[in-house]
Amino acid sequence: MITTASSSPSPSPSPQRSDRIGGTFIHSHGTKVFVPDRLDNVQDAVNQARFSEKRWVWIEDEQHGYVRAQVIREFEKSPRSARHPKIEVEHESGQTCFVPADKVYSMNPPKFDRVEDMAELTHLNEPSVIHNLTLRYHTGETYTYSGLFLVAVNPYRKLPIYSQDYIQSYKGRRRGELPPHIYAVADQAYHDMVQDGDDQSILITGESGAGKTENTKIVIQYLAAVANTAVRSEIEQQILQANPILEAFGNAQTIRNNNSSRFGKFIRIKFNNRAQICGANIEWYLLEKSRVHQQTPEERNYHVFYQLLSADDSFKEQLLLGGQTAKDYNFTKNSSITIDGVDDAEDYQKLLKSLDIMGLSDKEKFDLFRIVAAVLHLGNIIVTPDFRERADIRDFTSIERLCHLLGIPAQDFKKGLLAPRIKAGSEWVSQAKSLEQVQASLVALAKTLYERNFASLVERVNQALDGQKTVDKTQFIGVLDIAGFEIFEVNSFEQLCINYTNEKLQQFFNHSMFVLEQEEYKKERIDWSYIDFGLDLQPTINLIEKANPIGILSCLEEECVAPRGTDKRFLEKLNKVWNTGEGDAKYKPRRFDEGFIVTHYAGRVEYSTKGWIDKNKDPLNEDVTRLLARSTQPYVARLFEDYLTDNEKSTDMTLTKLRKGTGSFRTVGQRHKQQLLALMCTLESTHPRFIRCILPNDRKRAGQIQTKLVLGQLRCNGVLEGIRICRKGFPNRLSFDDFRKRYEILCPNQLPTNCFIYGRSACQTLLDAMQLDPERYRIGTTKVFFKATVLAELEEIRDRHLANYMTGFQAMCRRYIARQKMTRKARQTEAIRVMQRNARIYVTLREWPWWKVYAKLRSAGVAYRGEAQIKERDQKIAQQETQITEQTSEIQELTQKCQQLTSQQDDYAGLVQSQQAIVRELEESKQALVEKVAGHEEEMEEAQKQAEAQANMIARLHRDIRECSEENEQLATRYEAVHGTNETLTARVEYLENENGRLSKERENNVDSLRKELEELKKSNEAQISALKNERDEYKQKLSDAEENHRAEQNLFTQRQTELEEKLKLLNDELQQKSKERTDYENKHDILQSNWQDLARLVQSEAAEAQARSER
Ligand SMILES: Nc1ncnc2c1ncn2[C@@H]1O[C@H](COP(=O)(O)OP(=O)(O)OP(=O)(O)O)[C@@H](O)[C@H]1O
Ligand SMILES: [Mg+2]
Repeated sequence: MITTASSSPSPSPSPQRSDRIGGTFIHSHGTKVFVPDRLDNVQDAVNQARFSEKRWVWIEDEQHGYVRAQVIREFEKSPRSARHPKIEVEHESGQTCFVPADKVYSMNPPKFDRVEDMAELTHLNEPSVIHNLTLRYHTGETYTYSGLFLVAVNPYRKLPIYSQDYIQSYKGRRRGELPPHIYAVADQAYHDMVQDGDDQSILITGESGAGKTENTKIVIQYLAAVANTAVRSEIEQQILQANPILEAFGNAQTIRNNNSSRFGKFIRIKFNNRAQICGANIEWYLLEKSRVHQQTPEERNYHVFYQLLSADDSFKEQLLLGGQTAKDYNFTKNSSITIDGVDDAEDYQKLLKSLDIMGLSDKEKFDLFRIVAAVLHLGNIIVTPDFRERADIRDFTSIERLCHLLGIPAQDFKKGLLAPRIKAGSEWVSQAKSLEQVQASLVALAKTLYERNFASLVERVNQALDGQKTVDKTQFIGVLDIAGFEIFEVNSFEQLCINYTNEKLQQFFNHSMFVLEQEEYKKERIDWSYIDFGLDLQPTINLIEKANPIGILSCLEEECVAPRGTDKRFLEKLNKVWNTGEGDAKYKPRRFDEGFIVTHYAGRVEYSTKGWIDKNKDPLNEDVTRLLARSTQPYVARLFEDYLTDNEKSTDMTLTKLRKGTGSFRTVGQRHKQQLLALMCTLESTHPRFIRCILPNDRKRAGQIQTKLVLGQLRCNGVLEGIRICRKGFPNRLSFDDFRKRYEILCPNQLPTNCFIYGRSACQTLLDAMQLDPERYRIGTTKVFFKATVLAELEEIRDRHLANYMTGFQAMCRRYIARQKMTRKARQTEAIRVMQRNARIYVTLREWPWWKVYAKLRSAGVAYRGEAQIKERDQKIAQQETQITEQTSEIQELTQKCQQLTSQQDDYAGLVQSQQAIVRELEESKQALVEKVAGHEEEMEEAQKQAEAQANMIARLHRDIRECSEENEQLATRYEAVHGTNETLTARVEYLENENGRLSKERENNVDSLRKELEELKKSNEAQISALKNERDEYKQKLSDAEENHRAEQNLFTQRQTELEEKLKLLNDELQQKSKERTDYENKHDILQSNWQDLARLVQSEAAEAQARSER
């Protein structure tokens, strides 16, 4: 994959590219998304130029998923195989090849690199999505929007984006204003809850290790931070502390994640009407119980086991664990006992602290750990076969330890375990169990103990979190942290449950998207029938959950209840109902193994049905559970109280009973189905937000993306499905104004400039001029809607136009510069020519004899010219003197004239003064007039304003009238519809009333006939009873006869018994005689054997002597 140069993320979020000039697109989710202009900066321009040089595409690659290549040639039909159109491409390495056209994917121009919302990509395809995520991941941008989704790639390192500064900067900001972040999603949820008063939900899903739980914690921390500006309240502390508790009991180390949650959870954070946190509630789903007794060597059991074993010895002594470590218990010794960077002793202290904050008393804490310790002891009970190959437990102390902790009698426990009582008819009989059966019931007991303890813990936490009862109406924000779609090599019942959950959640997402789109289209009055993609998933959901025709879960339930239900019968039943042989059927049987294939939205999954009946029933030893229900430890008794209450009534029940409110009996699948349905109901009543977490690599390393792994997840978690749906509608939309501003350049001179034109008509004119296929766009009331890729094409055309304009402009500039250069050059040439000519003249003259003569005479000429000049000057002086005398006489004349004029001026000054007085008077009267005019002008302005206000009012009234008439129309249509329904309803009521009358008549008739029948029956019954009485008497007689016979037989029997006893005595004597003989024989045999040994020794010594002799 090609990556752009990386840059480190900024320490605080910067407003989204506000320094750039560009356009904004509005997406289906209402976000304004920035699209940078082509020439944003030099780098963009360079990249764009490089990109435009060739036609770049993505092609599939075995190793990297997708790689870049450039198109060399396109063939209608391949030159070799004339079947599929192929394209010849060149890899970046220079290697060329032919690729089928449908395996070549368009590449987005570089300006779309690292876009914050992938719905904005012009080419919405898999490689583009993965490329964008990779680029962003390498620059530390782990969050990216994809339409309604927020995609979060696990950074596997601490990023500086979760500080208080970040929290503050995302507070109250709209999505799109700042870079994508989970804070933005949480803030939007909080804001919408406060603003609209609706409950909100945030659904976080993804593979194991993708970061669901971390993001859940981040959301909760954010809500706690923004919901209360004052000092952190106790309830917030408790909500934050619930996590370490749940993680200790419900998390474990797995190959993929050192802190993997082995259960799903839905946490509701409740808010009062002042938008402050006032409580919380946790629901849990599908705890992985099998981990309690088996883990692979690289994995661990639940953290709490190791934490408890790291506690101080005095406490461990009380739980009979003193001095022991994880190596000493069968349930932990084969696991990886420590985790790098995790200190179990420290975590144990943290757990205790969290339990304290949650308000658990010492007794309650002890009870929790009592069960954990009991599970450890259970694992150490060794079952061995006795001499009759029946199960036996030799080490009674292990049982005693366990029973001491659980408060039950050890002997009874052993008896119940090895030979539980079952009811045969009306009697209880003990039935000895085989070794495997006893081992299985020990494991089942351990799993149930652990699960019930977990359930009780969550219940207790909920009790603490819900402590602050409030009478006000509350709203909540729910955060769902649940495992994503799973496809393993062997998929079993657990995978079916989790995939069923994800199928439902994906359907919910599709439906939400559909509802949002539908609303938008309706608002904009767009003619478009949008498809509800949620319905696509319905057939698979039906296959799993439907009761008629019987779905997988119901069928399994039926087999579990049936007395002789087996996995095989279950599969046969399923095949009979669902294997229809249709091509698009969601169910198919597996050809070679016992199981079936289900087509989920994320792909086909092969399930193996081995052991499903047991997994679903989860059978328990009822004798033991009854003991536990009567435990002397109240906590233990409470965990199993459902067995006590149902003791007598339900002894024939073999199904697991899980205490959950009603205490009704359910199988695992049925319980999950009901829980899931309840969850879906809750989610449907909320405004949902979707977060998809992505695991970047399977090595838990920062900065590495494994394309194939990520692609699989994008497929499974519905991101690609979301994009597919997006493409079906009109994902891109622009307001009229934005569209006109941005794309008017494509059709210059189409819109008149000298008069006003409505936005809608302007857009229509432009779109017509562009000759765009009307199927690819719709014009609403305020926006233009486009199919995917249309805007991309328009952008391309716009780029080309801009490029043409820019080329023209560049040409003009170059021409001007070139002209200036030319003029300067021409002038320079001219000047050089002049200089050359002068130089040449000078050189020629220098050698010319006449010039030399002239040069020598020139100095004499200067002296002569000096005398002539003096004469000239003298003449000039004489002339000037005469001029001066003439001018002096003139001045005298003028002075006289001046005196005359001054006297005249004095006369005029008097005149002017009188005139000025007159002017002043005139000015005063003018001032008065000006003031009068200003007054009139103000009056006029006032009048004008009033006129404008009246005009506005009239316009508003017109608008109101228009709206009212529209509303009227709507109401009229609604009225008609309601009227229609009303009429049908009235007709239906009438019909029903008639039916009712008819039925009541019928009922009366029926009652009469039944009464008669009853009387007849009574009579016949009485006759029968008397006949039966007679029969009884006869039987009584027969019985007394039989008794007599029996007595006679008994006498015979006692006689025979005494005979047999005598015989037995004789035989015993004989036996004693024989055993005596046998001992004699044995003694003889011993003597003979010792003789024989002596003889052998003699022979050996003689042989040794003979050998020694021969050697000598
Ligand atoms: N935002 C993040 N910042 C830093 N590290 C993270 C982040 N998200 C996840 N991680 C790392 O990834 C690990 C796994 O994350 P997490 O436990 O949330 O996964 P998960 O999806 O809940 O997995 P599982 O389904 O197994 O419970 C964390 O322990 C942490 O090291
Ligand atoms: Mg988790």
